[in-house]
Amino acid sequence: MDVAVVGGGVIGCSVAYHAARRGASVVLLEAGEIGAGASGAAAGMLAAQAEAHDPGPLLDLLLAGREAHRSFEQKIREATGLDPEYVWEGTLRVATDEQSRERLRTNHLWQKEQGLTTRWLEGDEARELEPALFPETVAALHLPEDGQVNSPRLVRTLALAAVREGARIEEYARAVGLGVEGSRVTGVRTPEGEVAAGCVVLASGEGSAALAGGIGVRVPVRPVKGQILSVVPRYLPVKSNVWGGRCYMVPKRDGRVVIGATVEPGERDPRPTLGGLAALSGAAVDLVPELSGAAFATAWGGLRPGTPDGLPIIGPVEERDALLVATGHYRNGVLLAPITGEAIAALALGEEPPLDLSPFLPGRFAEVTSR
Ligand code: FAD
Ligand code: GLY
Repeated sequence: MDVAVVGGGVIGCSVAYHAARRGASVVLLEAGEIGAGASGAAAGMLAAQAEAHDPGPLLDLLLAGREAHRSFEQKIREATGLDPEYVWEGTLRVATDEQSRERLRTNHLWQKEQGLTTRWLEGDEARELEPALFPETVAALHLPEDGQVNSPRLVRTLALAAVREGARIEEYARAVGLGVEGSRVTGVRTPEGEVAAGCVVLASGEGSAALAGGIGVRVPVRPVKGQILSVVPRYLPVKSNVWGGRCYMVPKRDGRVVIGATVEPGERDPRPTLGGLAALSGAAVDLVPELSGAAFATAWGGLRPGTPDGLPIIGPVEERDALLVATGHYRNGVLLAPITGEAIAALALGEEPPLDLSPFLPGRFAEVTSR
């Protein structure tokens, strides 16, 4: 194989698709089922502007990631006949008090300075846009270019697209280590033996640290648990992704409203708790009161792959030839999947990636320890 990808989340499947599309022979190994990790849990927001805290490399990447989805949407639908349910209705960030109004105002001003499309709305204007918002809405920031997608469907669509391009996907195939000869990574070790490959891509989400650590490479990805739930109202009360201070809600094309999410660093059990769901439900009903009558559908949780500096880890490991890392996308892996897949596929084939990866290279953390 030219490329062995470890991990069948949205990142691994995107890498497999993009590499196979460029003509590489690709195998993807997934410990469980495709989308079993964070990607199957995600709310699916393509919220480049809502997730941005300040100008810098992460903002640039998030914006490029959103842009990549716009062309990707049609390509992936044509390639598979599947519809991952994209919606481009923007994000509305809602201020519930004077403090949050100030924070949003600051956000609005720097985004405007960066030339981004952002609209400041006073409370009554916000309620004209989203009439179901609670009556005391103070103000809101409208980010009309953000979008959303059905994340579990997107992962399956990507997996099918990869297979159509000739990739082989193996589920229930856990990597137990990486093969190494001298400084070169030679493949992926599984309980059945080694899968040899010209290049290995580590895309195993919060499982990446252990695999890299096994050959002395530091990929400091840590789980940040998110609990999330869905309800089925009689009709969708909001059009856009709506963010309050204590929850967000994402109206899905299938009639559900997905309400998320807790942020719990270091928690390893992905199952939702009563306390987490109570907090999210209360926050959602405060933000959009008519949701109190919506039928509860289901609740779940996932482990975001977080990094110490909040930036993803994308690119080659200098001291280990033929090892590429694509992980640590924390809150934005769905948003960043197409662009990460493109960049890693280019590197795997010895080509220039389509964006400057220098802020995201694995080498910013400790290098290979002697082993
Ligand atoms: P994962 O999806 O976790 O995939 C890694 C895969 O590797 C897993 O399937 C795992 O089984 C497999 N694996 C692990 N170890 C091994 C091994 N040894 N051998 C083989 N396979 C292995 N992002 C957004 O962009 N928008 C959102 O709205 C959004 N909402 C979120 C809401 C919640 C509640 C959570 C938890 C996350 C959310 N995210 C969102 C973040 C997003 O889910 C992640 O950034 C993204 O899914 C990471 O993708 P991944 O492929 O790197 O990891
Ligand atoms: N991006 C939303 C979340 O991670 O909860």
